[in-house]
Amino acid sequence: MTSATDLFRELTGSEPLGVWSAPGRVNLIGEHTDYNGGFVFPFAIEHRTSVALGLRDDGRIRVVSTFDPVPVEVALADLDALFPARRDEIVEWARYPLGVAWALLRDRVLLKDADGGTGVTGVDLAFASDVPVGAGLSSSAAIEGATASALDEIWNLGNDRVSLARAGRLAENEAVGAPTGIMDQMASMLGRADAGIFLDCRSLEAQVVELGFAPAGLELLVMDTGVKHAHSTGGYGERRASCEKGAALMGVPALRDLSVDDLARAEELMDDVTFRRVRHVVTEDQRVLDAVATLRSEGPRAIGPLLDASHASMRDDFEISVPELDLAVDTARAAGAVGARMTGGGFGGAAIALVDQGLVASVALAVERAFADAGFAPPHIFGVRPADGARRDA
Ligand code: GLA
Repeated sequence: MTSATDLFRELTGSEPLGVWSAPGRVNLIGEHTDYNGGFVFPFAIEHRTSVALGLRDDGRIRVVSTFDPVPVEVALADLDALFPARRDEIVEWARYPLGVAWALLRDRVLLKDADGGTGVTGVDLAFASDVPVGAGLSSSAAIEGATASALDEIWNLGNDRVSLARAGRLAENEAVGAPTGIMDQMASMLGRADAGIFLDCRSLEAQVVELGFAPAGLELLVMDTGVKHAHSTGGYGERRASCEKGAALMGVPALRDLSVDDLARAEELMDDVTFRRVRHVVTEDQRVLDAVATLRSEGPRAIGPLLDASHASMRDDFEISVPELDLAVDTARAAGAVGARMTGGGFGGAAIALVDQGLVASVALAVERAFADAGFAPPHIFGVRPADGARRDA
């Protein structure tokens, strides 16, 4: 596979100044709770996006990647005019890194020169990634995290990791146009080997919680259905709008402010669809709290039923599953998984299963067979381990 450094050399004929990387993530539990101010419990994975960076002296930014080797180049001073209004002029993948550059510079009026320049040096960025795209593993947060880490250091901006995660979300919301929350960027920035990130998405307070899968004899399998999804269109935004409607009907700023005890009143106040959306989010917040507490007191094996309940809630109440995800989850469970659920925004992508190490091969085989029997394209099944967040590699 071409590395970011190889690609950089091809692009510029010179060596990069440095290489940074950031990981994708798996969300263990807590889906569609982040933009409701609630709780999530993701972990960063070993699949990463790397960026090799070099300086330019013409105030321009050029990006290229192994999955679309046609470079995209703009003047840094033009980013403000491009995003968000004219984002369609930029090929989609490049909106992520250029959007991060824009987000980092946007609020830094003081850095701007009197003649309207940006006051920071131009850059060449070459990307390579092994995070599967469209699988619900946040390939986008990985590209954002790598870009934000590299530019922050080179431009001497001095942001902390939470601010870099915010810049990534701003890029995703405004430059790409996907109305997502901040979970993925936080997981990619804050991840730690062997641990999950228990995050309060309102305060952005994060706790590192040891997962202990391997010592308990467990492995976390990702079952990528190959069904592609995109959050800049359709269902994701509709779900978000339903949540905002539900919160408004209950007179609270966000669904985070409701508890399971409020659901009876919610049911009286709302139409059935809005109520079920609300019930998913409120019960999911509680499941995250329960999962963290259970993990701490009883270990990872005990969280299986919470994973299962989370999936049922997404399938029946939030209605973001697809037949391939349901089949993967049901089959893994029937083959002995401790628990299983779809992960990420839904409408495709991947499911996860927590599986005894000795059952990994038979669970994977059972899911592959079930997909073949159903006439679905073969799933891509692989184990993931919790890994470190964004960092400089060279
Ligand atoms: C996507 C978004 C996240 C989050 C999840 C659903 O991954 O990027 O912000 O909303 O969906 O939990």
